[in-house]
Amino acid sequence: MRQDMANQPKNGPLSPSEFFGDGRSERPPVENTVARGSLADDELFVPKNSNNFPLTVDLKLLERGEERYKIFCSPCHGLQGDGNGFVVMRGMKAPPSYHQDRLRQAPNGYIYDVTTNGFGQMLGYSAQIPPRDRWAIIAYLRALQLSRNAKAADLPAELRDKLNQSGSSVTKPGGEPKPETGSKDSTGGGF
Ligand code: HEC
Repeated sequence: MRQDMANQPKNGPLSPSEFFGDGRSERPPVENTVARGSLADDELFVPKNSNNFPLTVDLKLLERGEERYKIFCSPCHGLQGDGNGFVVMRGMKAPPSYHQDRLRQAPNGYIYDVTTNGFGQMLGYSAQIPPRDRWAIIAYLRALQLSRNAKAADLPAELRDKLNQSGSSVTKPGGEPKPETGSKDSTGGGF
């Protein structure tokens, strides 16, 4: 008979119990229990406040990052990171531009956390992008930031000399110095 089964003595969620000394039917989890989905098994994890970069940055990593960035981030953040991608043009909240001091100074671990777990209206990409590719994207994001914020002192000596020789004009590779024309701050749109 179904009724007999349904009416057997049992505890509902959080119901009191005299069986255990603390008067609760619910038992505390065993010490060091890890909730499902919370296991810290990311071997490339870097804490939010750390500026460590866990991989060697080389051209290969940057090229991988550029490719992954264009696939996963540019639809919203734009190809250059201004926050004007296609999805934004269709009405989603515009992300902040990467080209601002707050995000230039944000530690690598912070950017990794945003990419992994999301931030505000942006969802996390832990399911779609494996850790190594997340770091490749961050390397490329840093390159984008540097592309608008480099100092002459950051250049290799050879290029710095060229820059000094040509004064305020721009040297085309292998060509004559050419006076700078127009705005160098063209944003180029999202795509
Ligand atoms: C669907 C659109 C979308 C995509 C795709 C996207 N983002 Fe975002 N991102 C946003 C929005 C919107 C914000 C701002 C969220 C807010 O303030 O609520 C944001 C914010 C950020 C921030 C700044 C956080 C801060 O402190 O202001 C970073 C860094 C970032 N995204 C990185 C990435 C990276 C890296 C990728 C690709 C792996 C990516 N985003 C993909 C929409 C997107």
